[in-house]
Amino acid sequence: MEVLSKFLTGTMNSVTSKCMFFLVTVLILRALLFPSFLGFDGIEWSNLVYIRTPLLNFDFGIRQDKFLVVPQIVWGLNNQKIAFARASLTARMLNRTLLMPSLSASLFYKEIDLLQPISFDKIFQFDKFNALCNGFVRLGRYSDVSNRTEVLEMEKGSGRRWTVERDLSQLKEHGKGSLDDHEVIRIVGKNPFLWHDHWPVKDYARIFECLDLTEEIAKEVDRVVSRIRAVGGKITRNTEAAEMQNSITSDGPSFKPLPYVAVHMRIEIDWMIHCKNLERRLNTNQICSGKKEIVERVRNIGGLKTPVVVYLAVADKLLNNSSILEGWEEGFLPFEKKKLGVDGIYKKYPYLIQSAIDYEVCLRADTFVGNSFSTFSSLIALERTQKMIRMNATNLCGENVRWPSYAYNIPGTSNGPMRWVTNMSESSLQAISYGTNHISC
Ligand SMILES: *[C@@H]1O[C@H](CO)[C@@H](O)[C@H](O)[C@H]1NC(C)=O
Ligand SMILES: *[C@@H]1O[C@H](CO)[C@@H](O)[C@H](O)[C@H]1NC(C)=O
Ligand SMILES: *[C@@H]1O[C@H](CO)[C@@H](O)[C@H](O)[C@H]1NC(C)=O
Ligand SMILES: *[C@@H]1O[C@H](CO)[C@@H](O)[C@H](O)[C@H]1NC(C)=O
Ligand SMILES: *[C@@H]1O[C@H](CO)[C@@H](O)[C@H](O)[C@H]1NC(C)=O
Ligand SMILES: *[C@@H]1O[C@H](CO)[C@@H](O)[C@H](O)[C@H]1NC(C)=O
Repeated sequence: MEVLSKFLTGTMNSVTSKCMFFLVTVLILRALLFPSFLGFDGIEWSNLVYIRTPLLNFDFGIRQDKFLVVPQIVWGLNNQKIAFARASLTARMLNRTLLMPSLSASLFYKEIDLLQPISFDKIFQFDKFNALCNGFVRLGRYSDVSNRTEVLEMEKGSGRRWTVERDLSQLKEHGKGSLDDHEVIRIVGKNPFLWHDHWPVKDYARIFECLDLTEEIAKEVDRVVSRIRAVGGKITRNTEAAEMQNSITSDGPSFKPLPYVAVHMRIEIDWMIHCKNLERRLNTNQICSGKKEIVERVRNIGGLKTPVVVYLAVADKLLNNSSILEGWEEGFLPFEKKKLGVDGIYKKYPYLIQSAIDYEVCLRADTFVGNSFSTFSSLIALERTQKMIRMNATNLCGENVRWPSYAYNIPGTSNGPMRWVTNMSESSLQAISYGTNHISC
């Protein structure tokens, strides 16, 4: 306890040393109370590393006394994630701490009253974000600002004459001289999703990696995923006799999470109207896939072991339309929230959190199949690609890689869906934000 008492008697007037004190106390208490925790659980260990990094290493690479404020972030979860990343990268360019922005819990956006602002840290872990993105971007709280009287407003231009170049030179101007002296710069104008993009895809990927759901939401994801794996377990137990041989010769009937396929099905009427227009405009027929085509392509995924559970991530509007569960071939066991019995979990939450849970369920799926013209699907493919890269996968498009993704709107081999990875060398997120059929594999 010597370290502890040293901290107790030391001066405690700065936030810094308070944080240090708190951290050291927590570490010592944890070590005393749970002497074995470092040994048996890798997750605990990595949490510890995450917590320690920012507090002991105060050099964030980003100034902590200059701040950026951005307009409320709105629309769908995917739009909000992109907008948040864009706001973070703007703050990085200005070498400023981004004051934690407001997200929107609801999808309504025509009437301001219905926007339901929700703080970033109600969805994602604030401290973990800073720990993981340490040195790259930094989030701050409004209480960090010392003088709120002197805020410089920076008006984002709009319209056709507001080009990417003009936008960039405005940013550069605000990063130097007397404009940069202001403690707070507030950007006014449209929501960040609509700002010009100046950053490569890999920078976005880096920000998305730092977004970890709050513990409460992550627990709900665990419940949904274990429910999916549990129904898979029930089904495959019937075919287990055939596999007994295998399990005996390997390491016995050991616990192995049962794989599942997640399919992000976009077949609602309003999507169909939108995508038909898009197909006409882009002169293609590879955007709108109906249910029949999706089922057919998923069935033809090469090397997929059946029976397999297929989790259908669908818009709420379709939840009570049981026809999406029909027409699947033998060996493909479709489930949506209701049939899984998890709709109660979702119903507790507003739109944004429901969507965040579904997103994570798709992210963790052993196989993901989506529509390359959906931003939601595209972001999932991007994050899964990033996960593969982190695992040092060499041939991202090859057979037998972990976490493969597919686009059902584009035909691949043997009338299956096209394999899909995000090209991390692209110089902007443009393609992902608005859909594409160039999907790299
Ligand atoms: C931000 O400014 C600090 C201090 O001037 C500097 O050390 C750091 O490299 C800058 N970071 C970026 C990302 O430009
Ligand atoms: C905040 O800034 C304004 C304008 O520069 C100044 O007049 C005021 O004294 C400052 N307040 C504090 C508490 O520093
Ligand atoms: C589905 O739910 C919506 C709204 O909850 C309702 O208007 C519609 O009639 C329902 N359709 C079916 C087929 O149950
Ligand atoms: C259910 O979905 C099918 C196929 O998407 C559609 O034809 C049918 O009209 C829908 N039924 C209801 C009640 O919405
Ligand atoms: C990937 O490779 C790097 C560099 O060789 C290594 O440090 C890292 O541990 C590897 N990661 C995994 C998950 O194998
Ligand atoms: C990835 O993007 C880079 C930059 O736009 C391009 O040169 C390259 O050909 C792309 N790779 C694939 C596989 O599409």
